[in-house]
Amino acid sequence: MITTHCTSTQSQTAVFARDVLNGLKQFPKRLPSKYFYDTKGDELFQQIMHMPEYYLMNSELEIFQSQKQDILATIGHTHFDLIELGAGDGYKTKVLLEYFLQEKIHFTYEPIDISANVLEQLEKSLHQRWPSLNVAIQPGDYFKMLHKLSKESARPKLVLFLGANIGNYTPQEARVFLRSIFDELNPGDYLLLGVDLKKDPKVILDAYNDPAGITAAFNLNLLSRINRELGANFEKAQFKHWETYNPVTGATKSYIVSTCDQHVFINALNRSFHFSAWEAMEVELSQKYDLQEINSLAAEAGFIVKKHFTDQQECFVDSLWQKPV
Ligand code: TRP
Repeated sequence: MITTHCTSTQSQTAVFARDVLNGLKQFPKRLPSKYFYDTKGDELFQQIMHMPEYYLMNSELEIFQSQKQDILATIGHTHFDLIELGAGDGYKTKVLLEYFLQEKIHFTYEPIDISANVLEQLEKSLHQRWPSLNVAIQPGDYFKMLHKLSKESARPKLVLFLGANIGNYTPQEARVFLRSIFDELNPGDYLLLGVDLKKDPKVILDAYNDPAGITAAFNLNLLSRINRELGANFEKAQFKHWETYNPVTGATKSYIVSTCDQHVFINALNRSFHFSAWEAMEVELSQKYDLQEINSLAAEAGFIVKKHFTDQQECFVDSLWQKPV
């Protein structure tokens, strides 16, 4: 038991080390943003989601609260499988679950996530709240699990991919990703895709560069994690968070910038890395789109756009797509 645990921790560390090395060898240097979420990172991200500048959470919540009837009516089924990719704590999804239960829809909620731990916690909280809800958690890779689920049942599917998730891919990667979902669906199945919209550049920048410095702390926490887990000596005070939004392309990028010429040694890689003064590392992409671009994404992947559900201020859209029958 203990040995197994050690081995898996060791190999996780090895994968982390390899990912960091891959990123730091590139030009510009990159750090993989999936490692933001250690204990401290989770805590800071909770704070981000609740800060007034981070509109994404409330916009999507508003869409579900005010348009759940319309979403269900547009789907038009009373029996389906509800599959969610990357469910997290299910905060927003619970609005839909509650409504579907109330409307006596026959459905099984099948959240897919790479983290079994996240799913077990979600399952527990769902059971407590709605003992009668059918939940079948699916720990694993999105596409493997989606493939398995589409073979398992002939019921129509509604796949959810919510929040800012699609924005973490470049438009090119998003095309490939959406096509892969399309390939795993049966004709008539639906995808409800959350997308953050292009808007006043100031509003977007503030969401990723808040005056209280929570986002900065969240980004720089990655350096602490590398220090702790890979035995590195990043001096956090010698790096700063920098955010950009390009209103033409819609790319919103987080950088960590070295404020002086310096070397950092990473024990796990047994090697040191040079940073010139003002050299920037790319850490995160949050791609924004407009409705026309979303229509093209859908068409290129083969989907029909059934309806765009936006919040009142048109900050965010949940776009309902269908694989043609
Ligand atoms: N990736 C998510 C988003 O685009 C979460 C996030 C919010 C984030 N602020 C961030 C990720 C800052 C990295 C840096 O909204």
